[in-house]
Amino acid sequence: MCGIICYLGDRPSLPILLNGLRRLEYRGYDSSGVAVAVNEKIHCRKAVGKISDLAGLLGDKPWTGWGGIAHTRWATHGVPSPENAHPHGDCRDRIFVVHNGIIENYRQLREELRDKGHRFRSSTDSEVLAHLIEEYYRGDLEDAVNSALQRVDGTYGIGVISAGNPSQIVVARLGSPLILGIRDREIFAASDAAALMSHTREVAYLHDGEVALLKPGSYRIRTLSGMPMNRSVQTLDWDMSSAEKRGYPHFMLKEVHEQPEVVGEAIRGRLIEAEGLAKLGGVERVWSRLRNMRRLIILACGTSYYAGLLGRYVIESCTNYPVDVDLASEFQYRKLNLQARTAVLAISQSGETADILAVVREVKRRGALSLGLVNVVGSTVARLTDAGIYNHAGPEISVASTKVFVSQIAILYLVGLLLGRHQQMSLSEGQEFVHELRALPGRMRSMLARAPAIEEIARRYARHRNLLYLGRRFSYPVAMEGALKMKEVSYLHAEGYAAGEMKHGPLALVDESFPTVCLAPRDSVYRKMIGNIQEIKSRKGPVIAVGTEGDTHLAELADDLIEIPQCGEMFTPFLSVIALQLLAYYVARERGCDIDRPRNLAKSVTVQ
Ligand code: G6P
Repeated sequence: MCGIICYLGDRPSLPILLNGLRRLEYRGYDSSGVAVAVNEKIHCRKAVGKISDLAGLLGDKPWTGWGGIAHTRWATHGVPSPENAHPHGDCRDRIFVVHNGIIENYRQLREELRDKGHRFRSSTDSEVLAHLIEEYYRGDLEDAVNSALQRVDGTYGIGVISAGNPSQIVVARLGSPLILGIRDREIFAASDAAALMSHTREVAYLHDGEVALLKPGSYRIRTLSGMPMNRSVQTLDWDMSSAEKRGYPHFMLKEVHEQPEVVGEAIRGRLIEAEGLAKLGGVERVWSRLRNMRRLIILACGTSYYAGLLGRYVIESCTNYPVDVDLASEFQYRKLNLQARTAVLAISQSGETADILAVVREVKRRGALSLGLVNVVGSTVARLTDAGIYNHAGPEISVASTKVFVSQIAILYLVGLLLGRHQQMSLSEGQEFVHELRALPGRMRSMLARAPAIEEIARRYARHRNLLYLGRRFSYPVAMEGALKMKEVSYLHAEGYAAGEMKHGPLALVDESFPTVCLAPRDSVYRKMIGNIQEIKSRKGPVIAVGTEGDTHLAELADDLIEIPQCGEMFTPFLSVIALQLLAYYVARERGCDIDRPRNLAKSVTVQ
């Protein structure tokens, strides 16, 4: 969602800030802005639309200031407009603030500040921060920010600059991420490592309830109550090339093609072939609690939720543990007995999704074991949970998640193997499982080689208005994820369904203008899927089938067939999901959509 980048150093700040904003574009935004300190004055420009619109406004006479703050906004309070975009200034344009998060008591603060004579220019909650800091400012920016934050209810990641202290920036966080980047005589702060990576790998994470005073090349962190904090610098191991398109027209296509390597990374060093075992270092500390759990609850949102749904089928196939999967946003309303023998696994690419953070905090409070499956190292979920596993998938830039989905499912398969081998799964079953996992990258590469055929099919269906996706057992979550991908990137109405539910509703929609994508690999539910396809065909519905290579019966039945390589029944999702990702991608391209940044969507949903 919203993104922050701040810079102080010995180079002109404007190009660095604009470049940082471009790196944050993938998170989703509708407007942007920048404020730079020049000769004890702050210059600020804001624009609706793309970063290129903002850069256009700034023209070819860049301000030569060495420090500044910048922001990409995704509207929550107030429409996208230059007034509502950040940075927000105080009454005299001496203090400017960029803010991610939500100020819950902003109405009350705004009334109070209005009564004191402050003039507001936007309809955002964030603007109160600039005026509140102005109210407390007596020459020391850090003190003023600290006092202002004592009055605030809600969540924030902020960057503040003032004309009175042009060689300082103050940043603070509560529930919204902020990372400091350090390089020689320079200091950066950003909501997302992607904005820092081209400058430095040396980072320090700010924690909730902390305020940092930044000066060129140095930082000092204190808690809101004034206690000094030591924070060591860590080196980011993300590869810069992950944030570049490397010749692909879109990040989504690049990330789809990275999937064989991503699965390779997810399983690297985590399999013991001879013993048919998985090894997950991140959960070793809590192994006895995990092993003795009575049930596992998986919580997630969006694509991560569908990974969790598949995880349930896999873990239940491998073990005796009952597995529950819920949307983090709905879990909050359920009345469950969460005790010490319940383990909760939160799956989140970003580790910052607001609904996930809310449930993880609740789960911890109630004494259950909390685990995280997270891609972003050092993210809030990674820090809040008792133990966890990292994806090591590298930064995912496209808003629609692809490579992290396959990484998540690869790790859930490892969890299934790990737990299963301590229960009834035999040595030979374990070895076979390891063999199938190891074979995946190669099989996924041959799947990707079928992209031209999928592109051809996509062209034929790109002008339809609706699509139904059906699957059973392991293919059911893939159908759901395939439909989500299509909705997100092509704006077609796509609905995922358990194939067994077809006759309970969706069949009424089927006619010659309503195509269905049927996942029908040769597995234990194949015959039932063929039955579904026949029912659709007898109502003249076009069928795009995803099936096992060489399946002539399916080829005759379906209008179009996307073949996947032969593999064990449980492992087909790794291949069929590629088919559906590519189908969504090529349909979206055919329809001229903004594939990497779909309208209205954000990479990380940091508000509930
Ligand atoms: C947003 C993103 C999705 C993602 C979902 C959950 O909607 O656009 O791609 O699946 O959030 O995000 P998380 O970071 O928690 O996995």
